[in-house]
Amino acid sequence: MPADRDYFTALGALLRSIGSGIPRLVVDLDRLDANLERLLELQTPESLRFVAKSLPSPELLAHLFSRTGRQRLMVFHLPFLLQIVEAFPQADVLMGKPMPFAATRRFYADRPDNDFDDVRQLQWLADTRKRLLQFVELSRDLGRPVTVSIELDIGMHRGGIDRSEELTGMLDTIRGHRDELRLAGFMGYDAHVPKAPWPYSVSRASNRARNRYGELLEYAWANYPDLEDGNWCVNGAGSPTIAMHGEDSPLNDYSVGSALVKPTSFDLPSLAAFEPAAWIAAPVLKRLPGVRIPFVEKLPSGGRDTLFIYGGKWMAEPSYPEGLKENTAYGVSSNQQMLTVPSSSDVGVDDYVFLRPTQSEAVLLQFGDLCAVRGARHIADWPVFRNAGYPAGRA
Ligand SMILES: Cc1ncc(COP(=O)(O)O)c(C=O)c1O
Repeated sequence: MPADRDYFTALGALLRSIGSGIPRLVVDLDRLDANLERLLELQTPESLRFVAKSLPSPELLAHLFSRTGRQRLMVFHLPFLLQIVEAFPQADVLMGKPMPFAATRRFYADRPDNDFDDVRQLQWLADTRKRLLQFVELSRDLGRPVTVSIELDIGMHRGGIDRSEELTGMLDTIRGHRDELRLAGFMGYDAHVPKAPWPYSVSRASNRARNRYGELLEYAWANYPDLEDGNWCVNGAGSPTIAMHGEDSPLNDYSVGSALVKPTSFDLPSLAAFEPAAWIAAPVLKRLPGVRIPFVEKLPSGGRDTLFIYGGKWMAEPSYPEGLKENTAYGVSSNQQMLTVPSSSDVGVDDYVFLRPTQSEAVLLQFGDLCAVRGARHIADWPVFRNAGYPAGRA
């Protein structure tokens, strides 16, 4: 594909001019912005919530916030939550999974002393009555209410409430502890939908999940209107399904992260209009003629040459130069990964090769600062969230 060749040739030249000389995680801001525009054609800025684990850099998030005019996040990791509250005291945060009680308590002990109003701005997720009762205990210790959302199971079976009787138990508990608990809303994730196998269909699975969400919500509205203080936050979807939620969706709050950088696992029909915007760029250390595998040196090299690159064994697929491949017989290495290219390829030592992450949440944390580029310009180096637990001495 000549377009790819032009794109990566320019990116490779840019990386050489930056002169890092180590593997970098490149974020293409033109593509990221175009992906965000596509997202805004699907949902309104006030209903979008960025998934912090999939876009794990405060400055990357700040860039997206500046385009939507809102600071709305879904968060999955306590150390990230602490950094977010520090960097964005105005943020509106929904936790994407229930947290161990110790981690929840830790938030209140370690949170920065700033304007972040946890009662108004932070929704913890509760999947069981037991978790709700922990929040009651916490609220009594804190002397202020704790805000919760209820996790619903709308078909993915990753936990949460899937029957109205169970929902009754949760909502009665909240009603019985009105001084301690504030119900902000609901979260029901539907990532199983695009994986519907035959004889199911993706569209039927999507309708079914939406209907299930709608039924549970109707039940709550009909029987517990007194628990609605303002509008409930009705959260759901994610990159795999965001394009499937049209006007008939019960949701008013949509989480999305990965689609903005589009790793390979998000090569889905519903995201066809989105473009990959994150690449691993790794310097070539060595180029050797042919392909020589220890003990089977006589095997033909099939018109290919060997590269050893700086680093490797990432959750990523070789993308460029054309024909770049792993070699399963040689194996993979985190230190100097072996890859092969067609002998006709002109890639050389100190050039960069490009790999496309299969997912963003772990991979984007592995390279230090993100290398933000726009066209042929290096715009900034954006630190990623610190991921090493709590600050030293405070474990
Ligand atoms: C509850 C929940 N919502 C939304 C998402 C979507 O995140 P992304 O858009 O990065 O796939 C996830 C991903 O794990 C999730 O667990």
